[in-house]
Amino acid sequence: MPKKLPFDLNTIKEIEEKYGTPFFLYDENIIRKRAKKLKDAFANKFDFKEFFAIKATPNPSIMKIMKEEGFGVDAATMTELLLCDKCDIYGDDIMFSSNGTSNEDFKKALELNSIINLDDISLIDRVIESSDNIPELLCFRINPGNLQTGNSIIGSPMDAKFGITLEQVIPAYKKAKKLGIKKFGIHTMVGSNVLNEYYFLDTVNILIDILNKLKKELDIEVEFINIGGGFGIPYRLDEAELDIEHVSELILELYNKKLDYKPKLFMEHGRWLTGPSGFLISKVVAKKDTYKNYKIVDASMSDLMRPGLYRAYHYITILREGKMMDENTPKEIVDVVGSLCENNDKFAIDRELPKINIDDYLIIHDVGAHGRAMGFNYNGKLRSPEILLKKDGSFKLIQGRETFEDYTRNMIF
Ligand SMILES: Cc1ncc(COP(=O)(O)O)c(C=O)c1O
Repeated sequence: MPKKLPFDLNTIKEIEEKYGTPFFLYDENIIRKRAKKLKDAFANKFDFKEFFAIKATPNPSIMKIMKEEGFGVDAATMTELLLCDKCDIYGDDIMFSSNGTSNEDFKKALELNSIINLDDISLIDRVIESSDNIPELLCFRINPGNLQTGNSIIGSPMDAKFGITLEQVIPAYKKAKKLGIKKFGIHTMVGSNVLNEYYFLDTVNILIDILNKLKKELDIEVEFINIGGGFGIPYRLDEAELDIEHVSELILELYNKKLDYKPKLFMEHGRWLTGPSGFLISKVVAKKDTYKNYKIVDASMSDLMRPGLYRAYHYITILREGKMMDENTPKEIVDVVGSLCENNDKFAIDRELPKINIDDYLIIHDVGAHGRAMGFNYNGKLRSPEILLKKDGSFKLIQGRETFEDYTRNMIF
């Protein structure tokens, strides 16, 4: 079964008339449905909280939806903290999971009363220096080293720059306790786009072993376990949805088996919540037959760098005036490319797709997370607008198209 579109050709044409192509379209219904599914899976078994990873889709309208769903946010940088401030998100609704953090970053995070998650043992001093008062709670990001595997998105833990080592755990918490920190959390984020439920069980198992050590050696009972984001989505047709209800059951079993108290369970998903809600709508602007059969679209890797960066697969639908291309349409093998002076500016390589004409709409699926957010301006490409398809089927511009004036604002002519 081909992947479905939650909109029709008329909607696309109406949006194009107003805002041109390419553009990102996010479906609010899909986001809300997924938010509910996440809560339904975890909130009846745990004292659960989701912190939406802003980096996935840093848009105030999306952040507002997450806030309405009762979620906090995971912020990693000063800019993301400033976005929180503008969106009236404060206090323990912000999990500040940064790395390479400056004193200014910590000052802002503390000013907003965020939960501070430290990426390195040396940052304990920095956070204390940045604060007038010792924070009540601190969290450490754990890198489980060779106890867990990673993937191409986030790297294998042994190679990943994130978090403290297993050997550093006791010294870190001991030092923080000695400095007067009263409450603690524990965090890890080791895999991204994982579709295997047992991976999360293994991750929680590693954290629980650390928790039991913290209790035994330092008499610390942590307030929460934050297992980060990382729930995968089926980008490909032959991939199955992750069974998050099963993940929840597995974690609960482990809690019951190995812990004599029940810390809160936190998560910070980006991809799982917004990925499937997003579509990059582009138009085919040219064809080229050389050593390969190229179809050139008006979007480029500067809109969506995942295929170029990790050879990531994104499903594609072709829409043509009057009809949707389907399984019965004649097919051809093509490379779908953008117009950057960069040869990995490709959305699909050797992909069998319905025969494509100039002016067809080429729709790239599952771009609602780590899509536009990772965009850039190479070759002076201006960043595409974002449109929200609202619950009632109407649409709303939630971020305008970047203009030449925006692009040159800081250039000195
Ligand atoms: C610390 C942290 N938390 C959460 C996320 C969100 O990950 P995902 O979108 O895969 O759920 C990321 C992604 O890079 C991250 O670095």
